[in-house]
Amino acid sequence: MTSKEIRRKYLTFFKERDHLVIPPSPLVLAEDPTTLFTSSGMQPLVPYLLGEAHPSGKKRLTDSQPSLRLGDIEEVGDNRHTTFFEMLGNWSLGDYFKAEQLPWFLEFLTKELGLVKEKLWVSVFKGDKTTGVPRDEESFTIWKSLGIPEEKIVFYGVKKNWWSRSGEPTLMPVGEIGGPDSEVFYEFADVPHDPKFSETCHPNCDCGRFLEIGNSVFIQYQKTTDNSLKELSQKNVDFGGGLERLAAATSDNPDIFQTDLFLPIIKRLENLSGRNYLQDPETTRGMRIVADHLRASLMIAKDGVLPSNKTQGYVLRRLSRRLLLFSRNLSLSSPEVFLPDLIKEVVKTYDDIFPDLVGKERAISEIFSEEASRFAKTLEAGLKEIEKLEKLDGKIAFYLYESFGFPWDMISEIARERGEEINFQDFEEEKEKHQALSREAAQGLFKGGLVDQSYEVTKLHTATHLLHQALRQVLNEQARQEGSNITAERLRFDFSHPAKLTPEELKRVEDLVNEQIAKNLIVTETVQNLSTALASGARAFFREKYPERVKVYSIGPATLRQSSGQARSGPPFSQEICGGPHVASTKELGRFRIIKEEAVAQGVRRIKAVLEKV
Ligand code: ALA
Repeated sequence: MTSKEIRRKYLTFFKERDHLVIPPSPLVLAEDPTTLFTSSGMQPLVPYLLGEAHPSGKKRLTDSQPSLRLGDIEEVGDNRHTTFFEMLGNWSLGDYFKAEQLPWFLEFLTKELGLVKEKLWVSVFKGDKTTGVPRDEESFTIWKSLGIPEEKIVFYGVKKNWWSRSGEPTLMPVGEIGGPDSEVFYEFADVPHDPKFSETCHPNCDCGRFLEIGNSVFIQYQKTTDNSLKELSQKNVDFGGGLERLAAATSDNPDIFQTDLFLPIIKRLENLSGRNYLQDPETTRGMRIVADHLRASLMIAKDGVLPSNKTQGYVLRRLSRRLLLFSRNLSLSSPEVFLPDLIKEVVKTYDDIFPDLVGKERAISEIFSEEASRFAKTLEAGLKEIEKLEKLDGKIAFYLYESFGFPWDMISEIARERGEEINFQDFEEEKEKHQALSREAAQGLFKGGLVDQSYEVTKLHTATHLLHQALRQVLNEQARQEGSNITAERLRFDFSHPAKLTPEELKRVEDLVNEQIAKNLIVTETVQNLSTALASGARAFFREKYPERVKVYSIGPATLRQSSGQARSGPPFSQEICGGPHVASTKELGRFRIIKEEAVAQGVRRIKAVLEKV
């Protein structure tokens, strides 16, 4: 069964059970300051899991969401970890619960995918004293009634069978939602247990005999300010299953890199390098890393990100440099020759569900070639730096690894050539320390993000709509949004325009926004059909795929609140399709000030602006 069929069967299965198939969110979230990339299907749906009505009016949704998780980057190279993956998802927004979800998923696995029930194991939440969340007897009973033998139903605690975006309950920031979950595992009978991982094998053992293929999360709790959990007003189901893993289970081969999602890339790598994928562990690992990082980089670049030293751009840089390094290890040293071939294979795999990849091959190849030549310079600089050093040690090895992207093997090879030896343990310890720090930083970003859903961000969000419209009026209708990012301190807005803005233009834009603020325009929210919204001139962000029913935010026209006492009507100043939230009226914004205008790419300008108290 091809992965295209698996995806289609899944969406059809849930459509037949009254779910609305919704378009996935972009991988790169332009307007969500809480996170860099979409990492699960539920992320764009949080407001609806919290109780807000979905614009479609539906309580059952399904989609296939492109996702990226960087936490596993060091594990990429084994037979089942990836950074980019597609998550098949279905949701109940306070509608059905365990009694429907668990049988449905089992039916999908056995009837639609043809998996043998005897190869399936499940895990269930054991209960947790600290939070008082009880053992999930209901799921246990349901699985038993579905014919899963008791010995294949395994109980785990908060570390394995609790899901929230930030992990177990103690790690959840205030306001975060989550709940106990129940996972399904596929057992590869041909993979022998490796006692290195645990005495006896079990579904969560890391030896590779078991593969998690789906997770039903019962999102029914929210973290409160006194650090406990409160029940949400509705009980939700949030299901996610990795397409890559479902494809591996369906072919009864534990190596996801041998599914049709990866095989064309691997085959092409074999042709280009003259090596065999399975010839030795290093080659296998190298090809997996190149294949994974290539896919991930392409998906990020497709959403308009360029390599840089910040946020998403930094991730793209890191992935593409690792991709280049591991290609070198496979004796592929001319990226301008091998990359276009590899890129073509990825585009072919996804031309039906990511049509926006098609036609971008050239542009993306160029981004990579440019990055490759920059990287070649960095490597050279790194080698020079090494020459200057008297002695190499674990700390320096880590510095070279982090700053220049030198992999451990390369560093220890250089040391050997110099007649020195570096202790691998020292290098690993440095790396561990650094990883702990970045994990904290990532959590900080997430936590900070949630706090930032605050009033400041909301105000800047409304200001962004005013700015967008002002740019169109002062420049022309071609000044179209290319991207947007908001923190609690400032807004950042990218738009298409061929030239640097003159000081006069900047002043006119600033004045126009401030005039709207002074008019105290009312911000209204309506839910409309996408076609109606577009026909009435509401702005849409062309990179985004919208569902059929959308929210439209209108700013203005001015109303009787005007000090002149004269009611005014007419078209709104701004009208955009947008998820919100926004302030109630523009007076709340204070004074709008542009602090910077610069180029970000050919034909794309960036404005940073702040709101000041008056
Ligand atoms: N949101 C759940 C996950 O990512 C389904 O595993």
